[in-house]
Amino acid sequence: MREFDESSITDAVVARMAGSRSERTRQISEALVRHLHAFVREIRPSPAEWEAGIGFLTATGQKCDDQRQEFILLSDTLGVSTLVDAINNPVSGDVTETTVFGPFYVPPPEFGHGDDIGTAIEGLPMLVSGRVRKASGAAASGAIVDVWHSDEAGFYDVQQMDKTGGLAGRGRFTADADGAFHFWTRRPAAYPIPTDGPVGAMLAAQGRHPWRPEHIHFKITAPGCRPLVTHVFAQGDVYLDSDVVFGVKESLIQPYVIHPSGDVAQGRTMSGTWVSLDHTFVLDDQRQA
Ligand SMILES: [Fe+2]
Repeated sequence: MREFDESSITDAVVARMAGSRSERTRQISEALVRHLHAFVREIRPSPAEWEAGIGFLTATGQKCDDQRQEFILLSDTLGVSTLVDAINNPVSGDVTETTVFGPFYVPPPEFGHGDDIGTAIEGLPMLVSGRVRKASGAAASGAIVDVWHSDEAGFYDVQQMDKTGGLAGRGRFTADADGAFHFWTRRPAAYPIPTDGPVGAMLAAQGRHPWRPEHIHFKITAPGCRPLVTHVFAQGDVYLDSDVVFGVKESLIQPYVIHPSGDVAQGRTMSGTWVSLDHTFVLDDQRQA
C-alpha cells in the first residue's frame, strides 16, 4: 500500500519496523509510534501548532551545552525522570529511597573528612555528617560519597563559574571504616530551575512555579551495592509539596538544624549562627544491577 490515511498510517509505520535489529528496538520503536500517533489523534494539531511543537523541541536541544541540559529539565518537569526512577528503584526494606539526578552533577574534587567545600560560596556555615551502611547491616566502609548543592542564593557553581572561579559546593568523600563522613559547607537554599529557556516558557504557559525545595544531592557507591542517587531535603521548606520536578519523598526530609553563635561544632567555637544536618544512608546490597 502506498496511500495512508488517519486510520491506516499507524499500522503501516509499525509494520515497516518489523525487521529492527533487536527485539527491544522493535518494541521501543513500535510503542513510540503508537503513543505518538495517539497523542496527535487526541490533540488534532493545526499545522501551526505542530510547527510550534517542533520549534519547542528544537529550542530545547539548542539550549543544551556542556553546562546546561535542557532535556533533563524537560524530563524532570514532566515527571518522566521520577517515573523512570520509580520503575528502576522500587522501595525495598529500609534502603534509602532514590530521587532524580538533576542537571547539575559534574564529577567533584576529592576532599578529606572535616574539609570545607564551601569556601567559594556564600551562606551560613553548615556541618553535614552521615554514615553509609548496607541493608544487610554492615558499615559500607570505603563508600564513595559525592555531594553537590546550591549556594544561599540558589545557584550551583556551574551556573556562575565567573563568580566561584571553579567548582564549589561539591566534593567527593571516602567513608571511613565505620562508613562515616563529615564535611563543612554553606547552607543551600530553595531555588527555581533555570527559566530562561523553553522549559521555563512551558512552565509559565502551564501556570506552574519553577521552584525546588532546599536540598543537598548525594550520589553514593560502594562495592557490591546498588549505586544510590538521592537528595536530603530541608524539613519545613514551603515547596516540599509542590517540587517542580516531583522529587520529594517523605523519607528524604530531614531537619536542617539551626544552632546559635557560641556553640561548639567539631571542636570549633562558632562565631555566628550555623546549621547542621545528619543522615544515615542505607545501600541495597541484595540487588546490584
Ligand atoms: Fe539540586
